[in-house]
Amino acid sequence: MEAKTKYKIQRDMDDKIGRNDPCPCGSGKKYKKCCLLKKGPKLNDYKDLYLQTYRIRLKENRDIEGIKKTGQLVLELLQLVKNEIKPGISTDYINTLVHEFTIKNNAVSAPLNYRGFPKSVCVSVNEVVCHGIPGKRILRDGDIVNVDVTPILNGYYADANQTFFVGSPGSEAQKIVRVARESLKIGRSMVRPGNTIGDIGWAIQKYAEGEGCSVVREFVGHGVGFEFHEPPEVPHYGIKGKGIRLIPGMVFTIEPMINLGRKEVIILEDNWTVVTADGSLSAQFEQTLVVTQNGYESLTPFDL
Ligand code: MF3
Ligand code: CO
Ligand code: CO
Repeated sequence: MEAKTKYKIQRDMDDKIGRNDPCPCGSGKKYKKCCLLKKGPKLNDYKDLYLQTYRIRLKENRDIEGIKKTGQLVLELLQLVKNEIKPGISTDYINTLVHEFTIKNNAVSAPLNYRGFPKSVCVSVNEVVCHGIPGKRILRDGDIVNVDVTPILNGYYADANQTFFVGSPGSEAQKIVRVARESLKIGRSMVRPGNTIGDIGWAIQKYAEGEGCSVVREFVGHGVGFEFHEPPEVPHYGIKGKGIRLIPGMVFTIEPMINLGRKEVIILEDNWTVVTADGSLSAQFEQTLVVTQNGYESLTPFDL
């Protein structure tokens, strides 16, 4: 490699990671004592390093553009559903809306037949934490309903969800939706090169538990883009400074499931529907993010 190019790569790296930050190679040493020295791996080596070490497939710009296109379809799907949410509709009607709009846009719904999931979207009402199967259930005034969509467009996956009010919410519904929304916002704000996956979960757990709510442990955020669920796992609880170091090109979801009562969950007989063990309300918001040079960009950007 030409010396000039080498120098440029080194400078790019220096911008991203502070000299005193922990080295992204995971050595535990400061960056200036490790990969900043000539001996350590350089920018281009991170793709291999993260693949070999963590099975994480870093995304190039063209991949990110592809996922972003799918993300635009995600936003249209969520808006379409939002406009139709009202007391009296069935959860299966939401499935029909999502399925047909997805197909009309030359995309495929990733949930359909995924590990035997029978529908094109997850619809989770009130005490249902996630993976609700659309069916005959009728939405009633005061319910909260989470709609989780994951289309595949040109081979690229984007994954996001929102929790909506049906009619007029009571005070408990308002609280759990506010805390779930804020949990994603706070988790997202931790995403930047040099921070770790543990920092994300730590920030969410501290906030949500501080509000008297609880964080579900059994389901986590995940790498996404080339497949539905890729490494790494992104827990919504954890310890500051622990876990894999974030570097540009990582694409993953943050999707905290927050319960008004206790954190424990039960899976119903259908082997999919996850409910709170104590019957309390649960809410969730999810976005697909890419780590950039100085923070993150949402590839499914809706306001929080
Ligand atoms: N969309 C969910 C997630 O955020 C996964 C749903 S799996 C399904 O990871 F099979 F239920 F669709
Ligand atoms: Co997800
Ligand atoms: Co999802």
